[in-house]
Amino acid sequence: MDTKVSSITGDEEKDNKIFAEASEILRKGGLVAFPTETVYGLGADALNEGASAKIYAAKGRPSDNPLIVHIAELSDMEKLAVDIPELAYKLAGEFWPGPMTMVLKKAECVPDSITGGLSTVAIRMPVHETARRLIRESGVYIAAPSANTSGKPSPTKAEHVIGDLSGKIDMIICDDTVDVGVESTIVDLSEDCATILRPGYITLKDIERVAGEARLDPGIMEGVAAGVVPKAPGMKYKHYAPNARITIVEGDNDKVVEYINKKLSRDGLSGDEALSSRIAVLATEENSKRYNTDNVYVLSAKADEVKAAKNLYRILRDFDRDKVDIVYSESFPQTGVGLSVMNRLIKAAGHTIVRV
Ligand code: TXA
Ligand code: MG
Repeated sequence: MDTKVSSITGDEEKDNKIFAEASEILRKGGLVAFPTETVYGLGADALNEGASAKIYAAKGRPSDNPLIVHIAELSDMEKLAVDIPELAYKLAGEFWPGPMTMVLKKAECVPDSITGGLSTVAIRMPVHETARRLIRESGVYIAAPSANTSGKPSPTKAEHVIGDLSGKIDMIICDDTVDVGVESTIVDLSEDCATILRPGYITLKDIERVAGEARLDPGIMEGVAAGVVPKAPGMKYKHYAPNARITIVEGDNDKVVEYINKKLSRDGLSGDEALSSRIAVLATEENSKRYNTDNVYVLSAKADEVKAAKNLYRILRDFDRDKVDIVYSESFPQTGVGLSVMNRLIKAAGHTIVRV
């Protein structure tokens, strides 16, 4: 399949044409990748089962992993969900449009094929202008997972989408103004207490401020390894992973640096691995000059969680681009947005954490 790749430039006439074309593709049941404020999404008409089936095929996504439906108006939520609690309106009032997804009881019109057979549906109103305009102009609710091959880090740049999906979908809209860098916060409102199923830019504190009470799904950080099954089906997969093997090193800062430097001297490696492997470090700005290698990838300053979120997926993909085999990563604070960073990083590392 030929994939049309078009960039939003601000030239009104050209942009109008791109939106008209993309809208037409969506209405006809095709696939269009587009930017949102969190990551790029791979969109299809949510109410067209044939169209959403194509999403699963293009991504190689397991069919039990449900999709988020993207809307442009609050009234759309009422068409897709039933028994909507008052809290949903409060949260929407505070965080929509924006990087928050709510899980609500699904309406009849939502096909089981996009909810993985669940009786709930995940709904999000993005704030990114391109996403909003595409939903409005196409006139469809857009089911959209992140626009990556299943298992790869979510795309924050058009080149990531092109690398993963070129030849498999109808169109890619390029607009590298993706800002947040990690996927939306998912809040489950289908049960009594508001529960965060996936951490993101909107934090537990933010939700608590509006809801009064909220909790984190215990499956979020423990993960499958500890036998706790996360409630968002997608959170159980080894996710966000580059080809490189990542080890997170936790503990006293000086000891972490010392441990990683010892590893950089190929301590503990044998045979081929000792000779030929490319070892890199994922570091805080503060420590970046302390490692005995040129292969240091700086995530952000230690306290700058927002920047860490913005950079993480790009760096995970850079490891692949630079053919890195082994990564030693510092651990980052799990406060606020930092929780979403560590949640993704721990998954990318397949839960390999060393305490020093
Ligand atoms: O920021 C985002 O949310 C991006 C952009 C494109 O909007 N989308 C995104 O979609 O991250 P995806 O498919 O990569 O992740 C959706 C997550 C999965 O973990 C899935 O299991 C969960 O949402 N999910 C979807 N519907 C659900 C439901 N009814 N109940 C629980 N979890 C659900
Ligand atoms: Mg995804």
